[in-house]
Amino acid sequence: NSARESLYIVSQFAANYFEEQLWNSDDGKAIGLSYFKERGFREDIIKKFNLGYSPDVWDALTLEAVKNQHAEEYLEKTGLSIRNDKGKLYDRFRGRVMFPIHNFTGRVIGFGGRTLKTDKNVPKYVNSPESDIYHKSNVLYGLYHAKKAIRDQDNCYLVEGYADVLAVHQAYIENVVASSGTSLTIEQIKLISRFTQNVTILYDGDAAGIKASLRGLDMILEEGLNVKVVSFPDGDDPDSYMHKVGAGAFKTYIEEQRKDFILYKANILLAEAGKDPIKRAGIIRDIVESIAKIPDNIKASVFVRECSHLLEIEERVLLTELNAIKLAKS
Ligand code: UTP
Ligand code: MN
Ligand code: MN
Ligand code: MN
Ligand code: MN
Repeated sequence: NSARESLYIVSQFAANYFEEQLWNSDDGKAIGLSYFKERGFREDIIKKFNLGYSPDVWDALTLEAVKNQHAEEYLEKTGLSIRNDKGKLYDRFRGRVMFPIHNFTGRVIGFGGRTLKTDKNVPKYVNSPESDIYHKSNVLYGLYHAKKAIRDQDNCYLVEGYADVLAVHQAYIENVVASSGTSLTIEQIKLISRFTQNVTILYDGDAAGIKASLRGLDMILEEGLNVKVVSFPDGDDPDSYMHKVGAGAFKTYIEEQRKDFILYKANILLAEAGKDPIKRAGIIRDIVESIAKIPDNIKASVFVRECSHLLEIEERVLLTELNAIKLAKS
């Protein structure tokens, strides 16, 4: 319909404007482009993802868009412009490097804008609000640029942030998407499952990142996907790690460190529990609950066997527990 079409059109206009600013304005070059380069991003990657720069001015984009006959209504509905209490429009994104967000057919539907300030009181990322063309829970950042490689490789790497997607591409790995901002949703998992049944999680190496992955990943198992995990040294995310070690070593690292999610989870919980028998009993239940999420019984039984070795507990005991959980759910 034509109202939605107008939202797509003004979003594309904004993406072009921000990109033009990055490459051709004085501030864009001196502040935005040099920021990306200092972080180690190559020009071909900056161009591939149509990265941009929003001028540090109240209404630069708004004025330019209105001058080009874009209606205020659509600027407001995409959240590119915000109306102040005097009724005047101003720009949502100011003085930020810009990541346009594409839907999987390649149309621009929203933006993430990263601050260049180190001030802790300034939000690191400002994102477009929900709109008729942008529903965060159904979008995976990078899917448009990844979908062919996801099919070809029959695997999808899942990262946390925009910069991680760029960094993984820069390491010549193109089958990567980010859930960006929101924790992973069922819709996003279903979207991935249209292209592959195999997901490899590359989450941030901080405690929060690891905990987030343990919670979110049972949901992926429930959808019948195979889940593998790569963890990074504490404090690193895929982006910082790739720039630290380089493209070749990064690729080797993720191939060698890739662990099956259930075994990864079992190892982490086991280390936490130590020798305490009550804690160990608790984690056994926790792990069996993850196994119970796997719809394929044959796959589940393989994990039962592996976990029985790892946890030093008889397979029969795990199976009894597994059946009890399944019975309680049915
Ligand atoms: P991170 O804090 O890990 O940021 O958030 P990052 O991607 O590593 O960013 P850089 O490397 O410092 O530039 C992961 C993702 O969570 C969302 C963004 O999508 C970000 O990429 N996020 C984070 C927000 O939406 N808002 C925030 O203020 C912070
Ligand atoms: Mn809708
Ligand atoms: Mn993080
Ligand atoms: Mn990060
Ligand atoms: Mn980062």
